[in-house]
Amino acid sequence: MLAVRFWHFAGRCRGTLASLARLVRLYSLQTAKTVASQCRTFTSQLSEQQQEIRDMARNFSKEQLKPQAGSLDRKARFPFDPIKKLTSLGLMGACVDSESGGLGLDYLSLAVAVEELSRGCASTGMILSIHNFLYANLVNERGTPEQKELFLKEFTQGSIGCFSLSEPDAGSDVASIKTTARKDGDHWVLNGKKSWVTSAIEGKATAVFATFDPELRHKGLACFLVPLDAEGVFRGNKEPLIGVRAATACDLTLQDVRVPAAWLLGGAGEGFRIAMAQLDQGRIGIAAHAVGIAQAALDTAINYAKERVAFGKNLTRLPSVKDRLTDMTILVETARLLTYRAATDVSTKNSSMAKYVAGKNAAAVADHCVQILGGRGLSTDYSAERHFRDARGTQIYGGVTDIQKRLVGHFLLKEHDAL
Ligand SMILES: Cc1cc2nc3c(=O)[nH]c(=O)nc-3n(C[C@H](O)[C@H](O)[C@H](O)COP(=O)(O)OP(=O)(O)OC[C@H]3O[C@@H](n4cnc5c(N)ncnc54)[C@H](O)[C@@H]3O)c2cc1C
Ligand SMILES: *[C@@H]1O[C@H](CO)[C@@H](O)[C@H](O)[C@H]1NC(C)=O
Ligand SMILES: *[C@@H]1O[C@H](CO)[C@@H](O)[C@H](O)[C@H]1NC(C)=O
Ligand SMILES: *[C@@H]1O[C@H](CO)[C@@H](O)[C@H](O)[C@H]1NC(C)=O
Repeated sequence: MLAVRFWHFAGRCRGTLASLARLVRLYSLQTAKTVASQCRTFTSQLSEQQQEIRDMARNFSKEQLKPQAGSLDRKARFPFDPIKKLTSLGLMGACVDSESGGLGLDYLSLAVAVEELSRGCASTGMILSIHNFLYANLVNERGTPEQKELFLKEFTQGSIGCFSLSEPDAGSDVASIKTTARKDGDHWVLNGKKSWVTSAIEGKATAVFATFDPELRHKGLACFLVPLDAEGVFRGNKEPLIGVRAATACDLTLQDVRVPAAWLLGGAGEGFRIAMAQLDQGRIGIAAHAVGIAQAALDTAINYAKERVAFGKNLTRLPSVKDRLTDMTILVETARLLTYRAATDVSTKNSSMAKYVAGKNAAAVADHCVQILGGRGLSTDYSAERHFRDARGTQIYGGVTDIQKRLVGHFLLKEHDAL
């Protein structure tokens, strides 16, 4: 199956052919279980297979994403063609079981792929990250066979999935969401407004969180799978963004949307727990995305500093520039290590720590990059300002940095019986 998709794709994209063929052979020989068991701890190197995924994503990113990232950003144009190619490579179902059309990879492999793709084009990396970590993995891990048939199979083959949690009056404060779910026979009826739904404009379905009893607060939440073309679902306008501009986010209005009871994901009352657990994964994805943006800023700064001459020397020979590049390297490596660790040992504390550090570091590294390019750092003819804009959002979407810090503090004190 994958081989067929691969060869179809290979005809159009010859660059990474030989090694991809190796990868495909690797996948077809291994089941999801054996692949997952190859996952190593953060102290060791990536496994051979994880390195191959990284190299494949890196090559793809360099050859297919980086050259057009600036223009997609300027035009705020969704990367339809790259997403199609990434689907051919299987990466839109990276961690999904092979029975549902996925590659059955572990989270670390997906995180590494998101990092490499975000290095070439932050928007494409973000789209892939949210589709996989917040939608496809959710349905793969918690969906019934029927739900997987309807809401997963085609989502490994090109359809895009979304995650609708945030609302105009409830972002960080998830328990306050106001979208309602009312039971009506063997259906649920959804009403309310969601905001900031990534890829909803292009997407085919979404997980929607709603309350069936606001008095129960977080215990009254449930998660539903909803086709975006269902009657009563209305997409708002694309949000005008300063970063990840080739990605899209919009409001969703739900007006008497009737959903069969069989599309309730998990139990009624489990919605909050499901959302939090999925965000633990989602934060690994956004952390990896942030590492990729930071690495891109470091690449840009080094390449520029090697060539630019000031005071008769290349910039790399000026101590202050060398110090900045050194700081950038340390910031990138720290974030990467925490992110890989979080992808290997998933927990709220590990994910929050990774996202906290990766988001802050990406913003700091992108700031250094702008500085090293001097006036050109402010010019839209160079990529530094794009990295600067792209980095900023990683401290907001997937859960704001401020909350990540509070979560880490919470678990720290809990471990010490000091809550
Ligand atoms: C490009 C983009 C894509 C997005 N994609 C999605 C998506 O696909 N699905 C989805 O559901 N959501 C998505 N979001 C929404 C995003 O997750 C929220 O914006 C984010 O969680 C913050 O919520 P808020 O905007 O309501 O800010 P608020 O919750 O109002 O917070 C505002 C600020 O208040 C402070 N603050 C609030 N609460 C606390 C606290 N408890 N402790 C400390 N400080 C606090 C922080 O400084 C915070 O930055 C996206 C957002 C953007 C910008
Ligand atoms: C990536 O490209 C490099 C250099 O062009 C090549 O050596 C390597 O085999 C490629 N790897 C993959 C997985 O495509
Ligand atoms: C700057 O570095 C380049 C190689 O990156 C070298 O060719 C060039 O001579 C250097 N210029 C100066 C002024 O040192
Ligand atoms: C976090 O990661 C560490 C190191 O990999 C691991 O030992 C731990 O179990 C993980 N989970 C928590 C809750 O810290």
